[in-house]
Amino acid sequence: MATLAINGGSPTRSKPYPEWPVFDQRDLDAVTDVIKSGRWGGHPYPGPQTDEFTQRFAAMQGGGHAVAMANGTITMEVALRSANIGWGDEVIVPAYTFQATAAAPMAAGALPVIADIDPQTYCIDPKSIEAKITPKTKAIIVVHLGAEMSDMDAVMEIAEKHHLIVVEDCAHAHGAKWHGRGAGTIGHFGSFSFQSSKILTTGEGGMLLCRTEELAERAISIIDCGRPHDEAGQQYTMGANYRMTELQAALGNVALERFPAQAKEREAMASYMDEALSDIPGVRVLKRDPRHTTRSFYRYILAVTPEEYGADHFTVCAAMHAEGIPCDPGNEPMHKYPLFQPGLSKLPVPSAFPEYFEFDKMHLPAAERATASEAIWLNENVFRAGPAGVDDVTNALRKIQANAAEMKKIAE
Ligand SMILES: Cc1ncc(COP(=O)(O)O)c(C=O)c1O
Repeated sequence: MATLAINGGSPTRSKPYPEWPVFDQRDLDAVTDVIKSGRWGGHPYPGPQTDEFTQRFAAMQGGGHAVAMANGTITMEVALRSANIGWGDEVIVPAYTFQATAAAPMAAGALPVIADIDPQTYCIDPKSIEAKITPKTKAIIVVHLGAEMSDMDAVMEIAEKHHLIVVEDCAHAHGAKWHGRGAGTIGHFGSFSFQSSKILTTGEGGMLLCRTEELAERAISIIDCGRPHDEAGQQYTMGANYRMTELQAALGNVALERFPAQAKEREAMASYMDEALSDIPGVRVLKRDPRHTTRSFYRYILAVTPEEYGADHFTVCAAMHAEGIPCDPGNEPMHKYPLFQPGLSKLPVPSAFPEYFEFDKMHLPAAERATASEAIWLNENVFRAGPAGVDDVTNALRKIQANAAEMKKIAE
């Protein structure tokens, strides 16, 4: 008789996990007030809701001059353009991320140079950054992936040594802290997404934290159709309309009220999960770096050993779904991503890396292993279902592993 739900056995969990996003009367009131005010859009920048949201968001992260935008991709493009990075420049990005991180430098006109990840955290490997630096390198975009943070001590040391701009892609890292400092306030820029799956959402939206007021003025000008936003009101820029609307900012202001309690709940349940996973054969919990003082949980990423599960992460995720657990195997590696290859090879940008023009030669072993066989991204909503919700995840992983022989047959 079948044991695994994927083969017709009974699932570990039969009730759904909590929905996301959540809302209450405060969201309805906030949006209604904006509608009644007649000021729906983002012009002139900033409207009262946007002004409040930028200030409160920067205060929550603990610093930076915040600029609210349409999404968390344009934020990275604008960061690079504000720092005068563009044609002919190279920007180092990690292989393991969402395509936006590598697309942003291309939109700014720069070449994304793809670095490998640290297998312990799945975030960019500082050694790989150093290996990719050329005289054309102008910036590094690091991604704080899932629930992890990049090694910001090492990244900032490299950046200072080589005079590079650092953009932190914090699309997954609202509220996270490194040595007590907020994600996005350590590099020159911190880029946040408020897209609807994110743990702080306005439906769509983004925020750029800039290290200086001058950089923020340039960023505002770029997203406000090039209008001058410097003190003298003179600096026109090449720009377009990438402003956040007042309706989005109003939702953001309510989301900020809820966020601390949600973050606390996710963190408590994730620590409970860390413990519970520690004795499941074939499961590797990613590194818990003591410098990462506050963790945020957009996705909880763990690694499975295919040999112990009888199958790779694609089949394990399918089995987890059948068991009632929301998860996925994560993103493709950027150097194999169809958008960039062979597209990148067609860019007329001379590079020190011939493999950019011969796709098959690019080899990033840690990213390839994570994306081909081992990473499992658990949805944040498992942490909003209390200890029983977490137990269901660990029980499902245990059950699937105990039936590795059945899994092997499915994978064949
Ligand atoms: C790591 C990362 N960076 C950037 C983004 C882009 O955010 P947005 O969809 O708001 O443009 C995402 C979105 O999923 C992401 O996961």
